[in-house]
Amino acid sequence: MKNNLVKKQFDARSSEFSRSASWVTDPALLAAHRRAVKGLLPAKGRMLEACCGTGELTGALKRPGLEAHGFDISSGMLRQAARHITYLKHGDAHKMPYADGFFDVVVMRQAMQFLKPSVFLKEAARVLKPGGTLLLSHHVPRSRAEQARLLVIYRLIQPAGVFKDPSKLYLGRDLRAHIARSGLRLKRAISHFSTESITALLKCYPNLPEEQKTAIFKAYLKAGSPGRKAGGIAIKKGELLAVWKWIIFAAQKPA
Ligand SMILES: C[S@@+](CC[C@H](N)C(=O)[O-])C[C@H]1O[C@@H](n2cnc3c(N)ncnc32)[C@H](O)[C@@H]1O
Repeated sequence: MKNNLVKKQFDARSSEFSRSASWVTDPALLAAHRRAVKGLLPAKGRMLEACCGTGELTGALKRPGLEAHGFDISSGMLRQAARHITYLKHGDAHKMPYADGFFDVVVMRQAMQFLKPSVFLKEAARVLKPGGTLLLSHHVPRSRAEQARLLVIYRLIQPAGVFKDPSKLYLGRDLRAHIARSGLRLKRAISHFSTESITALLKCYPNLPEEQKTAIFKAYLKAGSPGRKAGGIAIKKGELLAVWKWIIFAAQKPA
C-alpha cells in the first residue's frame, strides 16, 4: 500500500483515533507492554516510538528520565501525539530521520502491516545504541485457520488496503523469524488477549457501504462454533465482539 494512501487514511482518523478502537488505550494491553520491557529500560536515556500514531504507547511507558521521541508519516497523528511525546518528527519507518545509535529504546505497536519488516528492523537496529532495546507488538491471528478467516474480513474492511498482500497478516512466528534474521536478540515474548468491539471498529470506516458492513458481520459469524470459540466471537447487547491475540516482543541489539 502506498505511503500517501496510508497517510490519507490516518490523517482522516487522527482526531478520533485514540477513542476509536478499545485496543489503542486498553489499560491491560498497555500494562502487558510495560511487563514486556520490565528491567530492560534504562533509568535515563532516549526512547523512540516509531509509527507513533497518537503516542498512547509512549504515554504508558515514559518515565521522568526517558526523553520521549516519535515519528509518523501522518501529520494529523503527530498533532495528537504531542500530548505524550516531546520530540516529534515527520518520517518514514523505512528511512528513520535519526543518526545511528541515537536511542536506548525503540518501540512500535501495530504498524508492521504497513512496512517491509526486514527494512524496518534494520533501521530500528541502526538507530539503537549497542545494548539498546526494541519493543515490537502486533495483533496476530492465533493459527493458519484464523489467518485465512481474518484475511477475508480485513480485506473487506480495507478493500484498497494492505491486506491485498496476504503476507502482511503476520502470525506471531513470522514476526519472530523476522526478528531472528535481523541480528537483534530476542529477550522476551508475551501473548496478550484484548476484547475488541468490531461494531465500534467499523465506525472508524464511515465510508464503508452498509452491504460491506453486513458482509463483515456475516464473515465473523461464519467461523462456525469452534472458530467462534477460538476467536472469542460473540454478540452481546447487539454488539459484535472478538478477542484479539497480541504478541509483544522485547529484543536487544548486541552490545
Ligand atoms: C494502526 S496505527 C498505530 C499507531 C500507534 N503505533 C499505536 O499503536 O497506537 C499505524 C500508524 O503507523 C503509521 N505509519 C504507517 N506507515 C508508516 C511509515 N511507513 N512510516 C511511518 N509511519 C507509518 C500510520 O500513519 C499510523 O499512525
